[in-house]
Amino acid sequence: MKHGVAVIVGATGLIGQRLANHLQGTGAWDLIGLCRNATRPSPIPLLSVDLVDATSCRQALAGLDAVTHVFYTARFDHPEGVHESVETNATMLRNVVDAIDAASPRLAHVHAVHGTKYYGHNLGPIPVPASEDSPRASRVNFYFPQEDYLRERSKVRPWTWSTSRPHIFCDDSPGTPRNLPLLIAVYASVLREAGEPLYFPGTEASFRARTQFTDLSMLSRMIEWMAITPACANQAFNVVNGDCPRWCDLWPVFAACFDMQPGPVRPARLREMMAPRAAQWDAIVTRHALKPSSLGDAVLWEYGDYVFWPEWDIVSDMKKARQHGFTEQLDSARQLVALFDRMRAQRIIP
Ligand SMILES: NC(=O)c1ccc[n+]([C@@H]2O[C@H](COP(=O)([O-])OP(=O)(O)OC[C@H]3O[C@@H](n4cnc5c(N)ncnc54)[C@H](OP(=O)(O)O)[C@@H]3O)[C@@H](O)[C@H]2O)c1
Repeated sequence: MKHGVAVIVGATGLIGQRLANHLQGTGAWDLIGLCRNATRPSPIPLLSVDLVDATSCRQALAGLDAVTHVFYTARFDHPEGVHESVETNATMLRNVVDAIDAASPRLAHVHAVHGTKYYGHNLGPIPVPASEDSPRASRVNFYFPQEDYLRERSKVRPWTWSTSRPHIFCDDSPGTPRNLPLLIAVYASVLREAGEPLYFPGTEASFRARTQFTDLSMLSRMIEWMAITPACANQAFNVVNGDCPRWCDLWPVFAACFDMQPGPVRPARLREMMAPRAAQWDAIVTRHALKPSSLGDAVLWEYGDYVFWPEWDIVSDMKKARQHGFTEQLDSARQLVALFDRMRAQRIIP
């Protein structure tokens, strides 16, 4: 059965790619993807558009008159560690939804991928587990105006909305530097090359803090579920694997995956620590005949600092999704090990 005609906005991004693969695989959707650089590989047809520009957005999307669903997975460019532009990201969502709403009388649902930053985990400790009705972060981020826009606009239009709030994305897709499994694998391989143990690069307190992950295949299934389940309309849902391990429990598992000793905690800013080790990674790439990559570009090292340094628990409550019928749960350690294996099979890591 066909569910509809869907536009994936940001189809070449980390979750956009995985969602495109998932929805394509179901055979239940006609799909088109939006991004600026439409020359990148994608399993679905891509249309180039700059969402920042309302006029060109309307012109480029005027022909999309049969669209039933919008899956918004875009975010504007930003280096790690700086506050993402609230205004630009809010404008991008508004421009694309307004344009498709104007073009297609069949628009039924808009989903936007948000995240745990909604609760402000990146600013300091938050009450855990965070549930969907927990307070918003003390500092405005782009999720708030996007959600407010969807809520208000949908009141006067015939479509409904939903948002997802995942945490650290886990996937095996190549060419996406803000990707934790890849970061851990490259970090471990370089330390092993130097005969060092797998140091934990955060602090003693962060080593013992609880964290959580979102497998992107599961997130894709859950996004589709939200979009086609009437009971999910006009709501936000947390989307995490469902466990909340401590880094100190995961570290020996990761070390074993790379035949290493789990080292002690050794706080380090990863970009500075890895900068002198580029030649070691080059040697690994050559010896293992890996797909070409450089240590500086393969991984966004600052993302590791964002992930490894918080000294407080980050835990989301999955009760709401369970009560609405989405019961999938994943063991994050096993899932990460499986992703390492899949990246090895793709010759991305040794
Ligand atoms: N990454 C994570 O670990 C993580 C965790 C939790 C939540 N999230 C949330 O998930 C959402 C998606 O994040 P992501 O990391 O998957 O994004 P991403 O990998 O950075 O992808 C961004 C996408 O947006 C497109 N894009 C950017 N600017 C555009 C513009 N002006 N016009 C048209 N397209 C544009 C990009 O393509 P072009 O560059 O070709 O335009 C790309 O396809 C965000 O809300 C993020 O906060 C992410």
